[in-house]
Amino acid sequence: MKRTQISKFWKDASGFEGQTVDVAGWVRSARDMKEFAFITLNDGSCFNDLQVVAERGELSNYTEIANAHVGSALRVSGIIHLTPERPQPFELKADTIEIVGDVASDYPIQKKHATREFLREHQHLRPRTNLFRAVFRIRSRAAYAVHSYFQDLGFLYVTTPIITTSDAEGAGEMFRVTTLDLENVPKTDSHVDWSKDFFQAPASLTVSGQLQGENFAMAFGDIYTFGPTFRAENSNTRRHAAEFWMIEPEMAFCDLQGNMEVAEGLLKSVINYILDHCDQELSMLNRFVDKGLTERLRHVASSDFARVTYTEAIEILEEAAAQGHAFEYPISWGIDLQTEHERYLTEEHFKRPTFVTDYPKDIKAFYMKANPDGKTVAAVDCLVPGVGEILGGSLREDNFEILEKRIVELGMNPEDYKAYLDLRKYGSCEHAGFGVGFERLVMYLTGIDNIRDVLPHPRTVGSAEF
Ligand code: 4AD
Ligand code: MG
Repeated sequence: MKRTQISKFWKDASGFEGQTVDVAGWVRSARDMKEFAFITLNDGSCFNDLQVVAERGELSNYTEIANAHVGSALRVSGIIHLTPERPQPFELKADTIEIVGDVASDYPIQKKHATREFLREHQHLRPRTNLFRAVFRIRSRAAYAVHSYFQDLGFLYVTTPIITTSDAEGAGEMFRVTTLDLENVPKTDSHVDWSKDFFQAPASLTVSGQLQGENFAMAFGDIYTFGPTFRAENSNTRRHAAEFWMIEPEMAFCDLQGNMEVAEGLLKSVINYILDHCDQELSMLNRFVDKGLTERLRHVASSDFARVTYTEAIEILEEAAAQGHAFEYPISWGIDLQTEHERYLTEEHFKRPTFVTDYPKDIKAFYMKANPDGKTVAAVDCLVPGVGEILGGSLREDNFEILEKRIVELGMNPEDYKAYLDLRKYGSCEHAGFGVGFERLVMYLTGIDNIRDVLPHPRTVGSAEF
């Protein structure tokens, strides 16, 4: 039996008038009016419920249906009637209703229970709430918009490995992948004998698909990856997850300006798509989560992003501090920007998304292209109000000798990066790319301020449930 999604009726109920349809969903409420009962049913296809009318005279299981528990799963067959004189424009008059899955008596239905923290621990309930339905529909649409943007620009979608033997960011925040018996690790001279491991080498979950992405950019020109990445960062913040998705385009024959144009275009294109396709979800979030959401998204979609160098940003922050703005972390050239600094720049100074470029080389990854000043690299971060860093990227060091020297300088082993270095030996060219944290993007699109609440099943320090 093929069920009809409830959203179809809300799009065009008159097209179904008088027709027999099969629907299925979960009970929101059941009201017994003695001779007939109203069941409101939701199937997740849209916010709106379907009102089902059950008549005592028509249904042999009327008593059971009229007392159906909130949350139980029903299948209903019946006829759609338009009801323009009533608050809801149509209803389904049931011929048959079957309870296919009842709920246990400990089902938590009280409103006071519905905090986001409580819902994280009750996964069966979480995606059935209006809030999470709005968030995850926007997440789904945003993923589609990302693919559309790059496909329309002629980028190749390449999937990069999840298991890897190189640390793409050189930050050592990787989860190990092994089949060795951890109770009895094979050793030679008190060192782990990796030749006995599955890959005969230490392997980890990837922190970024960039290095393999560059490999394909050197053949296809413009590529992007969009997949899961993993970081064992021990930071329990609202913006860090241990498992998150990243969108990483990489462009051959492209400079830092070109990189920023693609990044700005991507963010605006996804925002516009969501504004055009998620009206109901945005209104709901705008009402209950973030009152300025829709206005902010419209503003961003139509304004130019600000652009400053790191050195200029430090000057702006020093000036603000001199004027009496209290920052917890002291400001001086060379520091890594803290969230409070990022937020000041984008929320108070520029009041729009801001690209910060040319960071000190010591706080950025090994692969970023050295600037002629010898102190900075051609890096770019984009900061947005409410979220802080939404994407980070750079021009890549495309000179073999300079890159090899940098790898050695940082105490890394050039042998581990041989394939990456080879790209600089055989037809190297100026190239650039960036990585957008997909959850940070969804936070920005929804106004949700905790990364856990835009992840279907969040994994963070100390928590990997379900
Ligand atoms: O700035 P990051 O570390 O850059 C890279 O990984 C580069 N390889 C990207 C590239 O140039 N291709 O990470 C990129 C973005 C950040 O700006 C942030 O949005 C997100 O990934 N991100 C996280 N999101 C959630 N949880 C975490 N722990 C994150 N770490 C980074
Ligand atoms: Mg970064």
